[in-house]
Amino acid sequence: IIFSDSKSGSLSVAEEIATLIKKKQSENKNCVLGLATGSSPIKVYEELVRMHKEEGLSFSNVITFNLDEYYPMNKNSVHSYYYFMHQHLFDHIDINPANIHIPSGTVPLEELHQYCIDYDLKIKEFGGLDFQLLGIGRTGHIGFNEPGSHYNSGTRSITLDHITRIDAAQSFLGIDNVPKKAITMGIGTVKKAKRIVLLAWGYNKASIIKKTIEGEITSEVPATYLQEHSNTTFILDDESSQEL
Ligand code: GLP
Repeated sequence: IIFSDSKSGSLSVAEEIATLIKKKQSENKNCVLGLATGSSPIKVYEELVRMHKEEGLSFSNVITFNLDEYYPMNKNSVHSYYYFMHQHLFDHIDINPANIHIPSGTVPLEELHQYCIDYDLKIKEFGGLDFQLLGIGRTGHIGFNEPGSHYNSGTRSITLDHITRIDAAQSFLGIDNVPKKAITMGIGTVKKAKRIVLLAWGYNKASIIKKTIEGEITSEVPATYLQEHSNTTFILDDESSQEL
């Protein structure tokens, strides 16, 4: 779906998420959301916070699983995705802190493998992701599933692509400060979601959006695996869709 700007696209996604949360509430069920970081979802979170404050939207039945975290990364660092999520969403809504799951950037290396397996198991225990929100990196990564990621991959540690580190360099005040690794939900984890929405705004994303939507399915552009998912929508603006 192509919107004229990121604001109107974000409002429609927030509306869909709110409708899902309320539907699950009326059925007395949890709503399991997979959440993303980066600049793309910020307006969606802003709108969800507004709905909570002005319309009484409650997140009491919401369970969240974030896609990824840098590794190593202290959760109190301003660069952590833990910090980002609290700043933009969790600190402003009535979610139970016990229902928030974000990969930990401080798990000891020797425990990391099992930690990642357990992350996927926890998602499964909650009945799987009802809704997964995604952005996209210039390499075609979703979460931090860089080129070469297997379509059936689970949550795991990954080495970041050089382009991804260049893109993060500005906020880290230099590429040398950008961690070389991350923990990410796998492509297989994401693809099990019942519903997936990917957001992409701006000219910067036009070329990777063309490859993702019109290109052949390849591990070189991991987001192309979404073509195989039967309930995925790409939410674009005029700029990110200009090469389609
Ligand atoms: C990071 C995140 C991704 C995100 C991407 C794009 O790499 N791990 O989940 O999609 O950035 O970020 P932005 O939305 O700022 O373009």
